[in-house]
Amino acid sequence: MPVITCIEDLKRLAERRVPRMFYDYAESGSWTEQTFRENTSDFEKIRLRQRVAVDMEGRSTKSQMIGQDVALPVALAPVGLTGMQHADGEIKAAKAAEKFGVPFTLSTMSICSIEDVAENTEKPFWFQLYAMRDQAYLRRLIDRAKAAKCSALVITLDLQILGQRHKDLKNGLSAPPKMTPKTIANLAWKWRWGMQMLQTKRRGFGNIVGHVDGITDPSSLFAWTAEQFDPKLDWAKIAEIKDMWGGKVILKGILDAEDAKMALKVGADAIVVSNHGGRQLDGAMSSIRMLEPILDAVGGEIEVHLDSGIRSGQDILKAVAMGATGTYIGRSYIYGLGAMGEAGVTAALEVLQKEFDISMALCGQRNIAGLTRDVLLVPEDFA
Ligand code: FNR
Repeated sequence: MPVITCIEDLKRLAERRVPRMFYDYAESGSWTEQTFRENTSDFEKIRLRQRVAVDMEGRSTKSQMIGQDVALPVALAPVGLTGMQHADGEIKAAKAAEKFGVPFTLSTMSICSIEDVAENTEKPFWFQLYAMRDQAYLRRLIDRAKAAKCSALVITLDLQILGQRHKDLKNGLSAPPKMTPKTIANLAWKWRWGMQMLQTKRRGFGNIVGHVDGITDPSSLFAWTAEQFDPKLDWAKIAEIKDMWGGKVILKGILDAEDAKMALKVGADAIVVSNHGGRQLDGAMSSIRMLEPILDAVGGEIEVHLDSGIRSGQDILKAVAMGATGTYIGRSYIYGLGAMGEAGVTAALEVLQKEFDISMALCGQRNIAGLTRDVLLVPEDFA
């Protein structure tokens, strides 16, 4: 068992163990990757106030997101093709999240289906929805998430058209991988995961294959999905989806104060300030830079969550102290999953919790309530 002390350790292990095509899929941003890079480098610009001689005993990292108890103000973000980072990846990540006490969000574009995850977990998870053109399919997805007792619907708004990631095109990304000499060499080299991933073939995209007329196997799927993301999605449609669901709704991919106000208007329970981990609009601002303007716009009337760029407990602390109710991690847990399966996701969460807890103490605070903007030193030109 390797000694894991930080997320970077998991990333390095994942790079060695996950077939290149799927490691690159996770580790890339769109076009020049400026936004992808700034998501992490902007966190570094915010500094923490070190305080001393305060009672640091009896600390707690517990909090709540949309009224649910969380062991740490973190949820696992929806990540497509998680099952290609590790066989049964979605199930393994969901189990780790459940045991740790944080929400898991299943992507529409998952390998394991809603039912697969529900059968293998005890607690309700969150389901992430992409609005699709096929209305009957959209309704069926929502009904399946309801039947699986998902406790929140996360509607992603920033990917109705796919941003271009150079590496995916160059690698010829597909799931399951097409058997070319290049992919075979890659899978054979990473034999441990390569063998397991071939098992993934039987699942295909679990939320789609077998649930849409004419899509009976994964090979017909990429073309279908590319056409299915509904470019006409607007606020009226979002309100309609919210009504169809009838439960808690989180709108993900908000990066502008005006859009945040619209989200408030349609009655979302929370928004996620996100640029999809720098995978969509290259040149957009980092999420952490847009957090304060968005918090100002919604004036405390709605929960504001944040993702994109979180690689440490200090990053979580900064987002929470700035006013986010909670955060999501994408790559930080995906590295863990690719590196070591369920144990790797648990390791990622443990690393983040330890960093968060110790940093909170060194800021002179014992719990989430004590984390206010007062613990931060933010450059004047930040927002
Ligand atoms: C994503 N993300 C994403 N979001 C979503 O709503 N549905 C999805 O299917 C996916 N798929 C996906 C795949 C991969 C490989 C990555 C890295 C990300 C975005 C994700 O939910 C989240 O917004 C980002 O991952 C947050 O950025 P960090 O934490 O990865 O920097």
